[in-house]
Amino acid sequence: MCTKSLPYFLSGLVVRGFGRGSKSLGIPTANLEDKVVDALPDDFNTGIYYGWASIDGQVHKMVASIGWNPFYKNEKKTVEVHLLHEFDDDFYGKEIKVIFAGYIRAEQDFTSKEELIKAINNDIAVAEEHLQQPDINVYKSNEFLSG
Ligand SMILES: Cc1cc2nc3c(=O)[nH]c(=O)nc-3n(C[C@H](O)[C@H](O)[C@H](O)COP(=O)(O)O)c2cc1C
Repeated sequence: MCTKSLPYFLSGLVVRGFGRGSKSLGIPTANLEDKVVDALPDDFNTGIYYGWASIDGQVHKMVASIGWNPFYKNEKKTVEVHLLHEFDDDFYGKEIKVIFAGYIRAEQDFTSKEELIKAINNDIAVAEEHLQQPDINVYKSNEFLSG
């Protein structure tokens, strides 16, 4: 369980992932550029997190996955952020600022895509609940996101 690095503040450019998030899962994710992934502290656990993210100056709730996506057996570690907001366009090339406020669970392998989708939807429900708590909600207005 990762708590000692939290809250963790990170910003970087959005790059193209494997393209499965939107198309295959119906859960689009903004993938962070490699240099951000490579700069994560060694003690920052892989897994699923919740927090706040801003893009184009707008702050949104987010859930994020850090690691190798065992269901897809990725060879490269990724940081992927799913914003709890519907957007018309993608954000490739834009800067995203993220505050990782809490840890939900470790990454898991699943026997079907449906199970992965179910787990992500459950993560979203967990995040929605935690993000309302005053000690977590306070990060929404942190100047890191608006500055
Ligand atoms: C909240 C959340 C939880 C996730 N949990 C897992 C997981 O437990 N196991 C896994 O293999 N991938 C997990 N993923 C990653 C998805 O597999 C990944 O977002 C998807 O493959 C899209 O990747 P792409 O944008 O590179 O195409 C999670 C993603 C999110 C946003």
